[in-house]
Formats: sequence, structure tokens, C-alpha cells
Amino acid sequence: MLIAMTREVSPNIENCALTYLERHAIDIDLARTQHRQYEESLAALGCQIHHLPAEPDLPDSVFVEDTAIVLDELAIITRPGADSRLPETASVAKALEPYRKLYHIKAPGTIDGGDVLRIGKTIYIGLSSRSNLAAIDQVKGFVQPYGYAVEGVSVAGCLHLKSAVTQVAKDTLLINRDWVDAGTFGAMALIDVDPQEAHAANALLVSEKVIYPTSYPRTQERLEKHGILLATGDVSELIKAEGAVTCCSLIFQHRD
Ligand code: GLY
Repeated sequence: MLIAMTREVSPNIENCALTYLERHAIDIDLARTQHRQYEESLAALGCQIHHLPAEPDLPDSVFVEDTAIVLDELAIITRPGADSRLPETASVAKALEPYRKLYHIKAPGTIDGGDVLRIGKTIYIGLSSRSNLAAIDQVKGFVQPYGYAVEGVSVAGCLHLKSAVTQVAKDTLLINRDWVDAGTFGAMALIDVDPQEAHAANALLVSEKVIYPTSYPRTQERLEKHGILLATGDVSELIKAEGAVTCCSLIFQHRD
């Protein structure tokens, strides 16, 4: 069974952390509707939704991806790189406990799940303003016994590694080469974002389809030309909070 763990949008999302974006008013009702539609897309792709209640005091808590790294064999509870986001992990750890053995990143390590891109048995971790070498070393210690390789990747100009590059098919990545070195990813084929859509590289591959924001029509056309099957949805209010489609869920297999 494929589980998608999500969290209701915080009523306080307008006070979210912003690093590279200017602050714009967020329509909370619309954000909730878009988030519900996102969950419906995940359900249509075969996910069972494990929906966590809103955290009114934690503006960024809808972005559950940043709180954990869930692999088949274990889950790592992160230590988010923004102080305001540190309290987000406790309830996610509790929710993940029935599914996985948990490991915890400790200070001075900081890491956001948005910086973690797993491709097969390789885990790429962005060295961004949120994630550091101390955390990468701890992740290595947790996952190497299970046969994973871990590689730190320089990221510049965007919040997370997955702002710059995500997987859109078994052997294909969607990438903004201005923010990450395209040579990092070995034999993977690369589709470039449209030059007018710098933020368009975040896509969420679920089974055989990709959940993709309607905010980037030019890049959407490129993906379609490459034969990538899309489930498009409007997440414009969540994008204003410097979020994206991968950020809003933790997706993993669960065997009863
Ligand atoms: N607003 C998302 C983040 O800064 O983590």
C-alpha cells in the first residue's frame, strides 16, 4: 500500500518563512482548497492519505516533506534548518512510528527533506541554507548499512535541492541548471525548465504519473513533449509560501 502523509494547511500560513520569495498575501481558503485537490490527485494515483491535523502555531507545517526522510527500511526525522520549523517534527515522528524504525538528526546537524533527492540507492542531499555537512554525515551513518550511497550537492539561488531538480521518470530528471550542477546526476536524462520559469523544476513522481503545478505552462509543455504523463493542479497559494508539490507529502510503501 502506498501511503501519502499530508498535513492540513496552517491557519497561520501567511507568517511562513520566506528565503528567496517576496511576501504576498495568501488566500487561506483557496490554499486549503488547492491542498485538498492535491490530496485528491494523490488518492487518484493510488495513495492512501494519512492526513494530519493543522498545527495553528506552525505556519510552514503543511510542508511535511521537510520533517522526515522515509526510505523502505527506516525513517529519519530531520532537524529543519529554520528555527521556526524545528517543532514541526514531533507530531510527524509520532505519526511515522507505526510504519518505520526512526532515527533522529541531532545538533549541529540541520536538514530539510526538501534537500533530499533519492534516486534508486543514491541519496543526493543539497547543501543549501537549510542543510549542512553535519547532517549529511549523520544520514550516511544511518543509511549506509542498508546499501545507500549519500552525496552532498551544492545548491545556489533557491531554497532546496528539490527546488532545482526532481525526478519525473525512472531515468529522467527535470532541472534548473542555474541552481545545481547538471553533471551531478550521472546517466540520468535531463529535461530543462523553460528559461522563463525558474521555479518550475519541482514535480512529484507517483507511480507512473507526475503531479505538476499549473503555474508553469511552458515547462509543462516540455514535459508533455517528452511523453511524461501529468496530473496537473493549481497550488499557487502554496507556491507563495515558498512551497511546491513535493513539499506537501511524505510518500512511502507500507506492507500490512
Ligand atoms: N516556507 C517554506 C520554508 O521556508 O521552509
